[in-house]
Amino acid sequence: MSHEHLAATLPAKLPDDPMHWAATWLEDATRANLRRNPNAMVVSTVSADGTPSSRVVLCKSFVADPGYIVFYTNYRSQKSREIEGNPRVAVNFHWDARGRQVRLQGLAVKSPAEESDRYFASRDWGSQVGAWGSDQSSELASREALKEQVRARATQFGLELADDLQSHKGSDAPLIPRPPHWGGFRIWPQRVELWIEGADRIHDRAAWTRELVPDESDAFVAGPWSGSRLQP
Ligand SMILES: Cc1cc2nc3c(=O)[nH]c(=O)nc-3n(C[C@H](O)[C@H](O)[C@H](O)COP(=O)(O)O)c2cc1C
Repeated sequence: MSHEHLAATLPAKLPDDPMHWAATWLEDATRANLRRNPNAMVVSTVSADGTPSSRVVLCKSFVADPGYIVFYTNYRSQKSREIEGNPRVAVNFHWDARGRQVRLQGLAVKSPAEESDRYFASRDWGSQVGAWGSDQSSELASREALKEQVRARATQFGLELADDLQSHKGSDAPLIPRPPHWGGFRIWPQRVELWIEGADRIHDRAAWTRELVPDESDAFVAGPWSGSRLQP
């Protein structure tokens, strides 16, 4: 395998497709276990009045071709409500130990329900109960109230949770369905920037753009990437 993507600069002739390049950076960060949650990324959304907000989520899938990434969340959370009003989002990955940054700008659309079902089913019962247990981004009276809420909702699935909520009584956990208000978002970038730290702030930077044409199934037909180098 070529290690060109691990070089200290991008090649003189830029790669045609930045998503493949970025995917190898994420794989490298994951393999090298560079930090806890090497797949953490900051996602920024914009409210109806134009106020941006950012938060960390985990990138659970990086699909270089045709070019989208996936994270999972509560569809009633602040970020989801903002995406519903305005699907334009920005994403930032930063692997400090490698001096690398990836910036994406693009459109977020809900993942197909079957894909969210599959991912939800692959999670352990604790995470599944957690998805039902929290009305993410709503106000909460106290930690105690949250515990009561989680316990009560778990009971509806036949789970009697221990005091710490970390274990349950009885041997088998029941099958827990995906909450309809929980699932994935696919982010389809229209712009990707790759950044590599250089000595004396002479970093290497390049950005690519492409056109996204919506198809009939909440996906896009993506045009070819066109890239250029940027001053650091
Ligand atoms: C390392 C890390 C990983 C996180 N992963 C997720 C995630 O995958 N999905 C999610 O909804 N929230 C995740 N969170 C919590 C979010 O940062 C945020 O608090 C939450 O989604 C509510 O955001 P909102 O009110 O802007 O919608 C993570 C937080 C951290 C620090």
